[in-house]
Amino acid sequence: DTTEAQAEFDARIAAEGRIEPRDWMPEAYRKTLIRQIGQHAHSEIIGMQPEGNWITRAPSLKRKSILMAKVQDEAGHGLYLYSAAETLGIDRDTMTEQLIEGTARYSSIFNYPTPTWADMGAIGWLVDGAAICNQVPLCRASYGPYARAMVRICKEESFHQRQGFEILYELSHGTEAQKAMAQDAVDRWWWPSLMMFGPPDADSPNSAQSMAWKIKRFSNDELRQRFVDMTVPQSEVLGLTLPDPDLKWNEDRGHYDFGEIDWTEFKEVLKGRGPCNHLRIANRKAAHDNGAWVREAASAYAAKQSRRTAD
Ligand code: ACO
Repeated sequence: DTTEAQAEFDARIAAEGRIEPRDWMPEAYRKTLIRQIGQHAHSEIIGMQPEGNWITRAPSLKRKSILMAKVQDEAGHGLYLYSAAETLGIDRDTMTEQLIEGTARYSSIFNYPTPTWADMGAIGWLVDGAAICNQVPLCRASYGPYARAMVRICKEESFHQRQGFEILYELSHGTEAQKAMAQDAVDRWWWPSLMMFGPPDADSPNSAQSMAWKIKRFSNDELRQRFVDMTVPQSEVLGLTLPDPDLKWNEDRGHYDFGEIDWTEFKEVLKGRGPCNHLRIANRKAAHDNGAWVREAASAYAAKQSRRTAD
């Protein structure tokens, strides 16, 4: 009976328990998880493109192999997350179709270009740094498969963040031109990184319910503030400035104040009008089309194997 099942679900959430795939759950809980985990998976997969762009041009063999490992990690994250979403009753083909048709969301951040090597540093330091702030609390999300996937993902994200910091550290302690390149990348990635946390709490339609269900543990603004507080001292170590004249320590709040985010830009990117939206989706579609023969061959092989087992 649904009332009893709902009471059991509510009690489990209240007691910090985990909801597992075979447990009863409200349809709206299932739907919001499919939405969030699906968007998260797509972000990891689309997120391979801005950095994949630099694998062949990284400045040394060592840098190439580190970057290649990082991009492969992102593919792995996408795959765990698609699998976690599949436990909720949607399949990966459907999610992929939605992505290449342009009806599924993925993080706004991956719609910005990567014109220089320093962008690899800024993505690692800022984008993966923001991802860690947002994702560490998701290791305690109430849905078991999502929370467990996040544990490994966060460990790998920490490596990504450190490698980005290290790239920027080398550049900011190099020649004047290298330092200028690092500063330019930070200038371009800072504000979009703050937008990754989503709209302000007052304009975040999903937050209240997701927090009540303990999918999200902190609000968008709380995590954004945490990221700013964590990043400012790191920028000082790098000797780079963050492009915000209003950024300053507020003794009373015990936090850094920061300037107004350009929410018009955020909305434009979400509507598909960011600098690289078309390119990202076109590339993903081309990769999917070019991989059709692999999927067909794998299905034919699986069918042949199952006929053999049946004989
Ligand atoms: N980029 C694209 N869409 C966004 C972004 C963003 N940065 N922030 C919010 N949105 C979307 C939401 O998905 C939601 O869309 P929908 O209702 O049409 O599905 C809408 O804007 C309103 O936002 P919220 O109500 O605040 O949505 P939500 O409660 O889902 O919070 C958040 C958004 C914080 C991104 C949450 O979904 C989350 O924590 N997701 C998991 C982390 C993740 O996806 N990270 C991806 C980037 S990190 C990486 O891949 C390295």
